[in-house]
Amino acid sequence: MKVIAVYNIKGGVGKSSTCVNLAFSAAKSGAKTLLWDLDAQGAASFYFNVKPEVKGGTKGLFKTKEIGAVVRETDIQNLDLLPADFSYRHMDLYLDGGAKPKKQMKEFLGRFENDYDILFLDCPPSFSLVSENVFNSADLMLVPLIPTTLSLRTYQQIMTYVAEHKKLSLKVLPFYSMVDRRKKLHLEIMNEGLSTLPGVLNTAVPYLSLIEQMGVHRAPVGLFAPNSQAAALFDTLWTEINRAGAAVQNKQ
Ligand SMILES: Nc1ncnc2c1ncn2[C@@H]1O[C@H](COP(=O)(O)OP(=O)(O)O)[C@@H](O)[C@H]1O
Ligand SMILES: [Mg+2]
Repeated sequence: MKVIAVYNIKGGVGKSSTCVNLAFSAAKSGAKTLLWDLDAQGAASFYFNVKPEVKGGTKGLFKTKEIGAVVRETDIQNLDLLPADFSYRHMDLYLDGGAKPKKQMKEFLGRFENDYDILFLDCPPSFSLVSENVFNSADLMLVPLIPTTLSLRTYQQIMTYVAEHKKLSLKVLPFYSMVDRRKKLHLEIMNEGLSTLPGVLNTAVPYLSLIEQMGVHRAPVGLFAPNSQAAALFDTLWTEINRAGAAVQNKQ
Protein backbone atom coordinates (compact mmCIF):
# COMPACT_ATOMS: atom_id res chain seq x y z
CA MET A 1 0.00 0.00 0.00
CA LYS A 2 1.32 3.40 -0.99
CA VAL A 3 0.56 6.29 1.37
CA ILE A 4 0.13 9.67 -0.32
CA ALA A 5 -0.36 12.77 1.84
CA VAL A 6 -1.75 16.02 0.49
CA TYR A 7 -0.27 18.58 2.82
CA ASN A 8 0.42 22.24 3.31
CA ILE A 9 0.74 24.32 6.47
CA LYS A 10 -1.68 26.76 4.85
CA GLY A 11 -5.41 26.33 4.46
CA GLY A 12 -7.42 27.16 1.35
CA VAL A 13 -4.73 26.12 -1.12
CA GLY A 14 -6.65 23.23 -2.71
CA LYS A 15 -5.56 20.28 -0.56
CA SER A 16 -8.99 18.70 -0.09
CA SER A 17 -10.14 19.34 -3.67
CA THR A 18 -6.96 17.81 -5.06
CA CYS A 19 -7.05 14.86 -2.69
CA VAL A 20 -10.65 14.00 -3.56
CA ASN A 21 -10.07 14.30 -7.31
CA LEU A 22 -6.83 12.32 -7.29
CA ALA A 23 -8.47 9.59 -5.21
CA PHE A 24 -11.17 9.47 -7.88
CA SER A 25 -8.56 9.15 -10.66
CA ALA A 26 -6.74 6.41 -8.74
CA ALA A 27 -9.95 4.44 -8.10
CA LYS A 28 -11.01 4.81 -11.73
CA SER A 29 -7.69 3.30 -12.84
CA GLY A 30 -8.55 0.20 -10.79
CA ALA A 31 -6.54 0.78 -7.60
CA LYS A 32 -8.27 -0.08 -4.33
CA THR A 33 -8.24 3.38 -2.80
CA LEU A 34 -8.90 4.74 0.68
CA LEU A 35 -9.02 8.42 1.58
CA TRP A 36 -8.60 9.39 5.21
CA ASP A 37 -10.09 12.79 5.92
CA LEU A 38 -7.75 13.87 8.70
CA ASP A 39 -9.14 17.39 8.98
CA ALA A 40 -11.73 17.92 11.73
CA GLN A 41 -13.42 20.41 9.37
CA GLY A 42 -14.39 17.42 7.22
CA ALA A 43 -14.19 18.94 3.71
CA ALA A 44 -13.35 15.64 1.99
CA SER A 45 -16.13 13.83 3.88
CA PHE A 46 -18.49 16.57 2.73
CA TYR A 47 -17.44 16.09 -0.90
CA PHE A 48 -18.24 12.37 -0.63
CA ASN A 49 -21.53 13.03 1.09
CA VAL A 50 -20.45 11.06 4.14
CA LYS A 51 -21.22 12.12 7.71
CA PRO A 52 -18.02 13.38 9.38
CA GLU A 53 -18.20 11.02 12.30
CA VAL A 54 -16.19 8.06 13.58
CA LYS A 55 -17.53 5.79 16.31
CA GLY A 56 -15.60 6.42 19.51
CA GLY A 57 -13.80 9.43 17.99
CA THR A 58 -10.02 9.56 17.70
CA LYS A 59 -9.45 7.15 20.57
CA GLY A 60 -11.98 4.61 19.31
CA LEU A 61 -10.49 4.80 15.83
CA PHE A 62 -6.91 4.16 16.88
CA LYS A 63 -8.01 1.26 19.06
CA THR A 64 -10.23 -0.40 16.48
CA LYS A 65 -9.21 -3.84 15.33
CA GLU A 66 -11.94 -4.14 12.70
CA ILE A 67 -11.43 -1.60 9.93
CA GLY A 68 -14.81 -2.47 8.39
CA ALA A 69 -16.42 -0.78 11.39
CA VAL A 70 -14.84 2.61 10.62
CA VAL A 71 -14.44 2.71 6.83
CA ARG A 72 -17.34 3.97 4.69
CA GLU A 73 -18.04 3.08 1.09
CA THR A 74 -18.54 5.97 -1.34
CA ASP A 75 -20.69 6.03 -4.47
CA ILE A 76 -17.52 5.39 -6.45
CA GLN A 77 -16.24 1.92 -7.20
CA ASN A 78 -12.89 1.09 -5.53
CA LEU A 79 -13.04 4.20 -3.37
CA ASP A 80 -13.63 4.12 0.37
CA LEU A 81 -13.49 6.88 2.95
CA LEU A 82 -12.27 7.01 6.50
CA PRO A 83 -14.33 10.01 7.59
CA ALA A 84 -13.35 13.05 9.59
CA ASP A 85 -14.47 13.41 13.17
CA PHE A 86 -14.70 16.59 15.21
CA SER A 87 -12.47 14.99 17.84
CA TYR A 88 -9.56 15.02 15.36
CA ARG A 89 -8.95 18.62 16.43
CA HIS A 90 -7.42 17.09 19.56
CA MET A 91 -5.57 14.29 17.76
CA ASP A 92 -2.22 15.77 18.85
CA LEU A 93 -3.10 15.18 22.49
CA TYR A 94 -4.08 11.60 21.79
CA LEU A 95 -0.89 10.84 19.84
CA ASP A 96 1.25 12.47 22.52
CA GLY A 97 -0.08 10.00 25.08
CA GLY A 98 1.36 6.96 23.30
CA ALA A 99 4.73 5.26 23.71
CA LYS A 100 6.02 6.52 20.34
CA PRO A 101 4.14 9.76 19.73
CA LYS A 102 5.56 10.34 16.23
CA LYS A 103 5.05 6.79 14.97
CA GLN A 104 1.50 6.03 16.11
CA MET A 105 -0.15 6.83 12.82
CA LYS A 106 2.24 4.67 10.81
CA GLU A 107 1.51 1.72 13.06
CA PHE A 108 -2.24 2.32 12.81
CA LEU A 109 -2.15 2.52 9.01
CA GLY A 110 -0.63 -0.97 8.89
CA ARG A 111 -4.17 -2.26 9.50
CA PHE A 112 -5.23 -1.09 6.03
CA GLU A 113 -2.24 -2.61 4.25
CA ASN A 114 -3.99 -5.77 3.03
CA ASP A 115 -7.16 -4.08 1.82
CA TYR A 116 -5.93 -1.08 -0.17
CA ASP A 117 -3.38 -0.26 -2.85
CA ILE A 118 -3.37 3.46 -2.18
CA LEU A 119 -4.17 5.50 0.89
CA PHE A 120 -4.62 9.25 0.55
CA LEU A 121 -4.30 11.47 3.61
CA ASP A 122 -6.16 14.77 3.36
CA CYS A 123 -4.24 16.72 5.99
CA PRO A 124 -5.32 19.59 8.22
CA PRO A 125 -3.54 22.92 7.69
CA SER A 126 -1.07 22.94 10.56
CA PHE A 127 2.41 21.99 11.62
CA SER A 128 1.81 19.72 14.56
CA LEU A 129 2.37 16.28 15.98
CA VAL A 130 -0.28 15.05 13.54
CA SER A 131 1.81 16.48 10.69
CA GLU A 132 4.94 14.78 12.02
CA ASN A 133 3.02 11.49 12.13
CA VAL A 134 1.98 12.10 8.54
CA PHE A 135 5.60 12.74 7.50
CA ASN A 136 6.59 9.44 9.14
CA SER A 137 3.76 7.55 7.42
CA ALA A 138 3.76 8.86 3.86
CA ASP A 139 5.69 7.61 0.85
CA LEU A 140 4.78 10.69 -1.15
CA MET A 141 3.78 14.12 0.03
CA LEU A 142 1.97 16.34 -2.46
CA VAL A 143 2.16 20.03 -1.65
CA PRO A 144 -0.30 22.31 -3.48
CA LEU A 145 1.11 25.82 -3.77
CA ILE A 146 -0.64 28.94 -4.99
CA PRO A 147 2.07 30.70 -7.01
CA THR A 148 2.74 33.64 -4.68
CA THR A 149 5.88 34.67 -2.81
CA LEU A 150 4.41 33.76 0.57
CA SER A 151 3.49 30.25 -0.58
CA LEU A 152 7.06 29.65 -1.66
CA ARG A 153 8.30 30.71 1.79
CA THR A 154 5.91 28.26 3.42
CA TYR A 155 7.20 25.54 1.13
CA GLN A 156 10.79 26.33 2.17
CA GLN A 157 9.75 25.86 5.81
CA ILE A 158 8.40 22.39 5.00
CA MET A 159 11.53 21.46 3.07
CA THR A 160 13.80 22.69 5.87
CA TYR A 161 12.01 20.37 8.28
CA VAL A 162 12.25 17.43 5.88
CA ALA A 163 15.97 18.08 5.24
CA GLU A 164 16.67 18.21 8.98
CA HIS A 165 14.98 14.85 9.51
CA LYS A 166 17.18 12.58 7.46
CA LYS A 167 15.40 9.41 8.52
CA LEU A 168 12.25 10.45 6.68
CA SER A 169 11.78 8.37 3.55
CA LEU A 170 9.05 10.47 1.99
CA LYS A 171 9.38 12.10 -1.39
CA VAL A 172 7.96 15.63 -1.58
CA LEU A 173 6.21 16.63 -4.79
CA PRO A 174 5.10 20.27 -5.02
CA PHE A 175 2.67 21.45 -7.68
CA TYR A 176 0.99 24.74 -8.48
CA SER A 177 -2.64 25.01 -7.46
CA MET A 178 -5.48 27.51 -8.04
CA VAL A 179 -3.44 29.17 -10.75
CA ASP A 180 -4.94 32.33 -12.21
CA ARG A 181 -3.18 33.07 -15.48
CA ARG A 182 -4.59 36.60 -15.50
CA LYS A 183 -2.43 37.39 -12.48
CA LYS A 184 1.03 38.69 -13.31
CA LEU A 185 2.62 37.29 -10.15
CA HIS A 186 1.26 33.79 -10.79
CA LEU A 187 2.70 33.82 -14.30
CA GLU A 188 6.04 35.27 -13.22
CA ILE A 189 6.57 32.68 -10.51
CA MET A 190 5.52 29.81 -12.75
CA ASN A 191 7.67 30.99 -15.63
CA GLU A 192 10.73 30.85 -13.42
CA GLY A 193 9.99 27.14 -13.24
CA LEU A 194 12.50 24.79 -11.66
CA SER A 195 14.85 27.55 -10.52
CA THR A 196 12.15 28.79 -8.12
CA LEU A 197 10.81 25.42 -7.13
CA PRO A 198 13.02 22.40 -7.75
CA GLY A 199 11.03 19.25 -8.50
CA VAL A 200 7.76 21.08 -9.19
CA LEU A 201 5.39 18.92 -11.23
CA ASN A 202 4.61 19.95 -14.81
CA THR A 203 0.86 19.70 -14.24
CA ALA A 204 -0.59 22.78 -12.57
CA VAL A 205 -4.19 23.03 -11.37
CA PRO A 206 -5.84 26.21 -12.70
CA TYR A 207 -8.50 28.19 -10.91
CA LEU A 208 -11.65 26.67 -12.42
CA SER A 209 -15.23 27.27 -11.42
CA LEU A 210 -15.97 23.60 -12.06
CA ILE A 211 -13.62 22.67 -9.20
CA GLU A 212 -15.44 25.12 -6.94
CA GLN A 213 -18.72 23.48 -7.91
CA MET A 214 -17.65 20.25 -6.21
CA GLY A 215 -19.24 21.73 -3.10
CA VAL A 216 -22.59 21.97 -4.87
CA HIS A 217 -22.48 18.50 -6.42
CA ARG A 218 -20.74 16.96 -3.41
CA ALA A 219 -18.65 14.81 -5.72
CA PRO A 220 -15.28 14.72 -7.51
CA VAL A 221 -15.34 16.61 -10.84
CA GLY A 222 -14.77 13.34 -12.71
CA LEU A 223 -18.16 12.15 -11.48
CA PHE A 224 -20.38 15.12 -12.39
CA ALA A 225 -18.34 16.43 -15.35
CA PRO A 226 -16.43 13.42 -16.71
CA ASN A 227 -15.60 15.04 -20.05
CA SER A 228 -14.39 18.36 -18.63
CA GLN A 229 -10.94 19.91 -18.79
CA ALA A 230 -10.82 19.74 -14.98
CA ALA A 231 -11.49 15.98 -14.89
CA ALA A 232 -8.82 15.33 -17.54
CA LEU A 233 -6.39 17.51 -15.64
CA PHE A 234 -6.59 15.47 -12.45
CA ASP A 235 -6.06 12.27 -14.47
CA THR A 236 -2.95 13.87 -15.98
CA LEU A 237 -1.73 14.97 -12.56
CA TRP A 238 -2.30 11.46 -11.23
CA THR A 239 -0.30 9.95 -14.11
CA GLU A 240 2.56 12.35 -13.45
CA ILE A 241 2.54 11.59 -9.71
CA ASN A 242 2.62 7.87 -10.43
CA ARG A 243 5.59 8.31 -12.72
CA ALA A 244 7.44 10.41 -10.13
CA GLY A 245 6.54 7.91 -7.39
CA ALA A 246 7.73 4.94 -9.44
CA ALA A 247 11.01 6.72 -10.14
CA VAL A 248 11.53 7.04 -6.38
CA GLN A 249 10.82 3.35 -5.82
CA ASN A 250 13.31 2.31 -8.48
CA LYS A 251 16.00 4.40 -6.84
CA GLN A 252 15.54 2.78 -3.42
N1 LIG B 1 -8.49 24.84 -8.64
C1 LIG B 1 -9.50 25.48 -8.02
N2 LIG B 1 -10.29 26.35 -8.70
C2 LIG B 1 -11.30 27.01 -8.08
N3 LIG B 1 -11.60 26.85 -6.80
C3 LIG B 1 -10.86 26.00 -6.06
C4 LIG B 1 -9.78 25.27 -6.64
N4 LIG B 1 -9.22 24.48 -5.67
C5 LIG B 1 -9.94 24.72 -4.55
N5 LIG B 1 -10.91 25.63 -4.78
C6 LIG B 1 -11.87 26.18 -3.78
O1 LIG B 1 -11.12 26.85 -2.79
C7 LIG B 1 -11.58 26.54 -1.48
C8 LIG B 1 -10.48 25.85 -0.68
O2 LIG B 1 -10.14 24.63 -1.32
P1 LIG B 1 -9.78 23.32 -0.49
O3 LIG B 1 -9.49 22.25 -1.47
O4 LIG B 1 -10.82 23.05 0.53
O5 LIG B 1 -8.43 23.81 0.20
P2 LIG B 1 -7.69 23.27 1.53
O6 LIG B 1 -8.05 21.84 1.71
O7 LIG B 1 -6.24 23.49 1.23
O8 LIG B 1 -8.16 24.15 2.64
C9 LIG B 1 -12.81 25.66 -1.68
O9 LIG B 1 -13.94 26.48 -1.63
C10 LIG B 1 -12.64 25.08 -3.08
O10 LIG B 1 -13.86 24.85 -3.71
MG1 LIG C 1 -8.86 20.83 3.41
